[in-house]
Order: sequence, then C-alpha cells, then structure tokens
Amino acid sequence: MSNLLETASTVPTALAELEAAWKRTDDLFAMIPPGSWSVRPIEQRHPIVFYVGHLPAFSWNLVGRAVLSRGWLRREFDSLFDFGIDPEFGEVVAEPVWPPVSEILDYRDRLRDEIRNCGKDLLAVAGERPLAEHARVLRLVLEHELMHHETLLYMFRELDAEHKLATPNWPQARTGTAPRDARFVALPAGTVRLGAAFEELSFGWDNEFPARRVSVDAFELADLPVTVEAYRAFVEAGAYERPELWDPRASEWLHTTRPQHPSGWRQRGGSWFVRGVFGWQILEAVSGWPVEVTWAEADAFARWSGARLPSEAELHHAAYGTLDGRDDRAFPWGDEAPDARRANFGFAESGPTPVGSYPAGASARGIHDLIGGGQEWTSTAFLAHEGFENYIEGYPGYSKDFFDGQHYVVFGGSWATDARLLRRSFRNWFRLDYPYPFTQFRLARDV
Ligand code: AVJ
Ligand code: FE
Repeated sequence: MSNLLETASTVPTALAELEAAWKRTDDLFAMIPPGSWSVRPIEQRHPIVFYVGHLPAFSWNLVGRAVLSRGWLRREFDSLFDFGIDPEFGEVVAEPVWPPVSEILDYRDRLRDEIRNCGKDLLAVAGERPLAEHARVLRLVLEHELMHHETLLYMFRELDAEHKLATPNWPQARTGTAPRDARFVALPAGTVRLGAAFEELSFGWDNEFPARRVSVDAFELADLPVTVEAYRAFVEAGAYERPELWDPRASEWLHTTRPQHPSGWRQRGGSWFVRGVFGWQILEAVSGWPVEVTWAEADAFARWSGARLPSEAELHHAAYGTLDGRDDRAFPWGDEAPDARRANFGFAESGPTPVGSYPAGASARGIHDLIGGGQEWTSTAFLAHEGFENYIEGYPGYSKDFFDGQHYVVFGGSWATDARLLRRSFRNWFRLDYPYPFTQFRLARDV
C-alpha cells in the first residue's frame, strides 16, 4: 500500500498537476457557448456561471485565507462563490445576481497566479499548519478541481444541444450488450480495513481518517453490475407503480413526480433511449452498460430481485480481500496503478462500457468492475465514523454538512473519475434521490 514516503508531495509536483487540471477545467467550460452561462442544467444546483467562479474562490479560501492567513482576494467573489447548494426535494433556494463572466475570468486568472507563486509562503508555515506540510492544501484544491470535472460533465449531459458545443476529439462511446448474466459469488466472513492513517497519505479528506477495522458476515455478491437491459425489465414490470418496493423516503418523489423510468431515459415511438453526454442512444445499443439510477431506484430494484444493495464494507471486502485472508492491496487487481486495461476511468472512454469489459481488473474474489465505470451505490448511509475529525481548516463542513442520513456512500469511481481519486480510502456520496451522477450498482444477498 502507498505510504507517505513513496507519495511525498512537493509544491512543484502539485503545481504541475494543478496546471494540467486547470487546462481540463478550461476545456470543459469551452463546451458552453457564450450565451449559455446562466443556464441551470440541474434544478437543484446553481447555473454554470457559478462553477466558473467556484473553482478559484474555493482555491483561494483554502490556500490564501485558511492556510496562509492572507485575507480576501476579492471579497464579494470569495464569498459569493464559496459553496454550492444541496437542497432537499422541493426546497427552493433564492438565486443571486451573478457577475459578468469576464470579471469572473479575471478573478480566476489572478487566483492562478497567486497559487503559482505561493510555494515559499507555504513552506514558511509548514511547521504550524498540517495543510501546508507536504503541499497538502495544493493537493486538496487539485482534488476539488478534479471532482468538479466529473460534476461539470454530468451537469453538461443534462444540457440540450443548443447549450453545448460538440467537443472535436470526443471519442465514440463503447456500446454493446453484456457478455453474460451476472453470477453471485460467495464471500466468506472477514474483517476489512477502511480509511487510512493520516501519515499514510500525502493528502486525504477528513472522512478518510483514521483507519478502522470493520467485520463483515459471509454474503453473496453479483460479479457484474446491473445492466440497462436488466433494469428495463423492472421498468416494464410497472415497478414505479408499486410503492411497497420503495424506501418510504422516496414516496414524496414518487407521488409528486410520478416517474415511470430513470431520469436519463425516454420513450419515443415505442423505443427506449438512454442519455449520453453528447446525445441519446437507443437502449438496444447500450443494453450492456451499467444502469445509472438513483439510490432509491437501485434499492427498489434490489428488493424486486429478492436481493439488497451491498454495504461499503462488503464492497471493500470484495475488492481488496485476497483468498489467503489479506486485505492490503491498493486496488482490486493488486498494487499496480490503474490503467486502461483494468478499468474505465479518467475520461479514457467517452462514457460507460458494457459490464465485464475489464476482466484484467477483477478482484481476487472474481468481482468485476469495482473501480471505474460508475460510482457504485452502497447501502451505507454517509455518517460520522468512530474517530472522525473534521481537520480541514477553512472547510470544516466538507463531510460533516452531509451527515444527515439522506446521503449514501458510493464506491469506486466512474468513467469520468480521475485516477487520483481512485485510492481505496477516498469516499464519495450523493443524496438518495439524486439522479444525475455517473453511477452503477450491483446486487448482494445474505446467505
Ligand atoms: C464529495 C462529490 C459529494 O460534489 O458535492 C465539491 C464534492 N465538495 N465541492 C460534491 C465537493 C465541494 C462533493 N462530493
Ligand atoms: Fe466544490
């Protein structure tokens, strides 16, 4: 497993990675035509223009204000763009008047120059500020930027074609059917190590620490995620009209919205279509993709199938446990860094790939597609664990603000997740009725 000595990070290496991340940020925003900055692709989120300001504001608030104690970069912008919103179903949030994009871009450029030149000041406070040591705060803003690349891309998927420019080098999506049905694999009881010790990582978010051991009972786990084709049977069986299949927390949404199918599907002239980042695909062409649905839909599908969702600890056990009872691999396939032969991550493909496309990435227990593809839903609510401490100065709410029992942990990352965010202690989470991210899920059952 990686330790701090191997991964020790310096200001120059972090800055080089930040430059590359900024380039990708700019490429993503280049998908938006000038007249479309104020469009809100997702009702529960701010318009696109907010994100142009959010990335620099967040970076300054952490590096400049929290760690270097240097005060405001541009006071109104530092506050206006500090945090996004995450309203409950039906909650209405008032929208501010957003400044002109040209001013936000000037602010962004000033921020980038400040960051490029902050190395000396960081070293000067490294002894007193853990976030300054090992350039941690630069990794923090880097990972924040990388997380938002994925967020921007799933937001942009929701845009109609008039608000989105085709990206010239966007590859063709890999479509197709599943090679076979999923099989249940028996997993023995055992213990899993979740999280990491602070000194093990060059940077980790608050919810990754400390390392902890959790025991898991024997259970069975599907070796492949649920496909679009398998989920279609659930839709066509009228499952959305059967309240007994659904978690009670989904009932307001079911009642008010009356969904009949996933938010990214539509029916035209008797055929189903599934939404991709650049347009709709006929369902038959993508029947082998892992289906992308909300936690509530995944949970209902599992109940309908006589199964359940696996917990976070169970997925760790399936991913990292070996046949001789060890649990110390960095990735499901071993310790080698992720590459395009083992998983679908980091924009290498332009979307999901049919389940089972990465046999070289299977875990020791024979479970496929655990890393990449889609952020995998678990039955684990995102809550404080023993020893949790919100250590990040300037961002105490990174995790804590979401410990409300309405958010669920997702495992493993999607086709749009950067390799940096695939470390085993990294955690992500979404609201249980949030339909937009690049997700997947699989079935588990008790034995
Ligand atoms: C960790 C992905 C749930 O997108 O809301 C971005 C990450 N936090 N900016 C989110 C995040 C602040 C967060 N997730
Ligand atoms: Fe953010």
